[in-house]
Amino acid sequence: MTSDTSTPADIADPRLADLGSLRIEWAAREMPVIGQIRERFSRERPFEGHRIAACLHVTTETANLMLAFKAGGAEVTLCASNPLSTQDDVAAALVERAGIPVFAIKGEEDATYYQHLNAVIDSKPHFTIDDGMDLVALLHKERRDLLPGVIGGSEETTTGIIRLRAMAEQGVLSFPIVAVNDAKTKHFFDNRYGTGQSTLDGIIRATNVLLAGKAMVIAGYGWCGRGLAQRARGMGAQVIVTEVDPVRALEALMDGFQVMPMMEAAEQGDIFVTLTGDVNVVHRDAIMAMKDGAILANSGHFNNEIDVDALEELSESKSGVRDYVEGYQMSDGRTLFLLAEGRLVNLSAAEGHPASVMDMSFANHALAAEYLLTADPVPEPQVLDVQEKIDDEIAQMKLDAMGIRIDTLSDEQRTYLSSWESGT
Ligand code: ADE
Repeated sequence: MTSDTSTPADIADPRLADLGSLRIEWAAREMPVIGQIRERFSRERPFEGHRIAACLHVTTETANLMLAFKAGGAEVTLCASNPLSTQDDVAAALVERAGIPVFAIKGEEDATYYQHLNAVIDSKPHFTIDDGMDLVALLHKERRDLLPGVIGGSEETTTGIIRLRAMAEQGVLSFPIVAVNDAKTKHFFDNRYGTGQSTLDGIIRATNVLLAGKAMVIAGYGWCGRGLAQRARGMGAQVIVTEVDPVRALEALMDGFQVMPMMEAAEQGDIFVTLTGDVNVVHRDAIMAMKDGAILANSGHFNNEIDVDALEELSESKSGVRDYVEGYQMSDGRTLFLLAEGRLVNLSAAEGHPASVMDMSFANHALAAEYLLTADPVPEPQVLDVQEKIDDEIAQMKLDAMGIRIDTLSDEQRTYLSSWESGT
């Protein structure tokens, strides 16, 4: 159902707006940094006359970022960065209560997903915000006429930044983009504590299984995998890590987890979770070796980490068991359970990362947009780091909001740290 207000939109149901507003306000309580930035933006209006197009998971946290941009004078337009992650009540609240155009419906087909991306691009953005780089890719592939008008952008994920760096290396990137994921106040917290908690939340909400005593196989020991491994251990799971990087594998081992190849882990695991950013990590041979009743979930950006085609081919039938749980009846009599179609389980079956970590991730986007849209001259097209002073400022604001004070260097210590003469 499309909104009946004058705001252009394609959302599931505008009548969900009241519920969405309440939940957006609830998230705002845990987002003090965005709250402060929003207050400053509303005084200074740094985005007056600028159009911002965002392709992000449409959640209560994203809504608070959109409201901060709007308070700063921007015309913002939003679509989803994943077909299953949209919170329809949030989309309704943004359209009906804030007059922000939103194009996102939970469960939309791929064709609709791309229609929605195009609708956001139709706003002729000066700034793009991506989570996975679908917006920037579409602009560069099919909407090139609009590229000259884009001043800059920001990107949320590891996956998106890998794709952006490939574009920059090939010399095809048309505008500078800030790599928000690489900020310390982003990946140390969002990827680690956010993914750690929200992935368990998604698995538990979908299945209600007891984690204590289960063997959980975690593919990938980057910041997301580390976070999940820590939290799963805390819930009593026996964690097995699979890796391709020897340093990360060693780290996982010395952090106290079992490390082995996927083919060995396949025979032992009760629950498998992929967080690698790579393709077919849970592959056909692993699927063939799994125990009856194994649960398969993905928490990496794209839905290609589990070989779902192989699962389809090796099974005789499949049936919905519960919301977000599909049982695959294999030809050899086993049943394997795939969660959320192999899409991000934390955003499909749960609500994504809690607001408190998204507060810092989204503060980076807000300040990156302010930096690039007011920069004179605008930097060359390239992948840019978040400036260290912005990273530190966000950490300090978060500590202040949490009422935590820390020490400062004395003059003596500052001098010592910048000298080399004194030694043993
Ligand atoms: N990515 C992970 N969790 C998220 C959330 N709650 N909102 C937006 N993007 C997210």
